[in-house]
Amino acid sequence: MKEAVLTPSYDDTLHAKLREATKNLHRRLDHHPLLAPLMQPGLDQRRYGNALLALYGVHAPLEDALAAFFNQRPGKFDYFDYASRSKASALKADLAQLGRPPIPITVPAHAIGSLAESVGVLYPLEGSMLGAQVILRQLQLQTKSGSDLPVRFFSCYGDQAHVHWRSFLAWADIHCPAAQHDVAIAAAQRVFNTIADHLDNTAQHLNG
Ligand code: HEM
Repeated sequence: MKEAVLTPSYDDTLHAKLREATKNLHRRLDHHPLLAPLMQPGLDQRRYGNALLALYGVHAPLEDALAAFFNQRPGKFDYFDYASRSKASALKADLAQLGRPPIPITVPAHAIGSLAESVGVLYPLEGSMLGAQVILRQLQLQTKSGSDLPVRFFSCYGDQAHVHWRSFLAWADIHCPAAQHDVAIAAAQRVFNTIADHLDNTAQHLNG
């Protein structure tokens, strides 16, 4: 008689672990008074600009930290081409169109010391582009009802968002073995917390 194959009842892939470990932290971001309005009807240019200012302060330093890390490894088999996915210039252009100069409040940029840590930093940046698809659809509804909101940032992956997401996850699986999952998870949680604190600081600056 064939023995029953016992399959684990939980999903222990790197992606599932990252998602589970940051689920509650994500709530602090999508419920934050600076970002929640992105999904609400009646969004005006001022509140939209506030959200983009906060997001610029997230992307600019984290993208610099990723560039500093990956630029030491060009040509290595584990290189991740983040530069071609950079979103800071799209944010800058949207802000310029709204007449909103960047503010000097940004997330603290920790140097990235390992591939596993880079996975933890890339996870929120790349995953947020899935949320961006949902936000973009909401913004397009606003545009139909007459609002003029620039959407270079939210549409910067075009129709490739899921392709980019899957290729990031495949790269992460290869370069972050199970023994390193905890390092990636800790880095991702740190970035989510850092972003949430940064949103609070930005809100204080804009209201103050
Ligand atoms: C800087 C801020 C944000 C970060 C870092 C972030 C991060 C992420 C990550 C990592 C995922 C992928 C989760 C997975 O593994 O499946 C995700 C998905 C998602 N996010 Fe966010 N997010 C942010 C802001 C927001 C905001 C403001 C909203 C909406 C108000 C939002 C809505 C969503 C939605 C709807 C998904 C699921 C999309 C799908 O599965 O197709 N996010 N986000």
